[in-house]
Amino acid sequence: MSDVNKPEFWNELYINNSAAWDLKSPTPAFIDLLSSEYFDGRKKFLVVGCGYGYDAIEAAKKGFEVTALDFSEKAIEFARSLAQKEKVNINFLVEDFFNLNNTFSNSFEIIFDYVTYCAIDPKRRKEYADKIYQLLKPEGIFAIILFPIENRIGGPPFAVDVNEATDLFSEKLELIISTDKINSIKPRKGRELLQIYRRANGKKS
Ligand SMILES: C[S@@+](CC[C@H](N)C(=O)[O-])C[C@H]1O[C@@H](n2cnc3c(N)ncnc32)[C@H](O)[C@@H]1O
Repeated sequence: MSDVNKPEFWNELYINNSAAWDLKSPTPAFIDLLSSEYFDGRKKFLVVGCGYGYDAIEAAKKGFEVTALDFSEKAIEFARSLAQKEKVNINFLVEDFFNLNNTFSNSFEIIFDYVTYCAIDPKRRKEYADKIYQLLKPEGIFAIILFPIENRIGGPPFAVDVNEATDLFSEKLELIISTDKINSIKPRKGRELLQIYRRANGKKS
């Protein structure tokens, strides 16, 4: 069976035009977030699992200093050429999120995830939450749109349980908002939720 932990799995989906999650445009709720109070005064931005890069490009257009990471070369190839067309500067990283080295620790003021948490192996969710904490600057925020909130077998996308996710991220971060009052596209309405967490100034192990 193919392995979601490997970039080849995702490259193949992109090559075969099977990127069913691709909105072909920035995420509407993310556009709203970019001008929200939560992002105000913060600049250094990481988009994790950026795919074709629409959200990263939108953030760069709004003046954020964006790093966009994905371990699929195919996705980044597309994102790079789109960024060039849109004349924005983005630091693209073709890397496995879990292997991102320590030079990035305490680096980002904002980290954004849309449909990446549900793409990783569910057994690695705790590792994922710990890595987010490690990459965030003290006072930095992690914004995630949890999707798909439903009972489903298998994946990706792997089902997201709000309580499980909240418990995991709250181990080291403070939840500041959790809301389904966001601009969801019609087919995803009722199955997604925006959460924003903040890393406190002190350190947690
Ligand atoms: C479902 S797609 C979502 C892409 C994008 N966020 C979007 O909304 O269109 C998940 C993305 O996460 C990437 N990904 C999955 N696991 C990863 C990992 N361990 N490191 C880096 N990227 C990863 C995949 O290559 C894929 O592009």
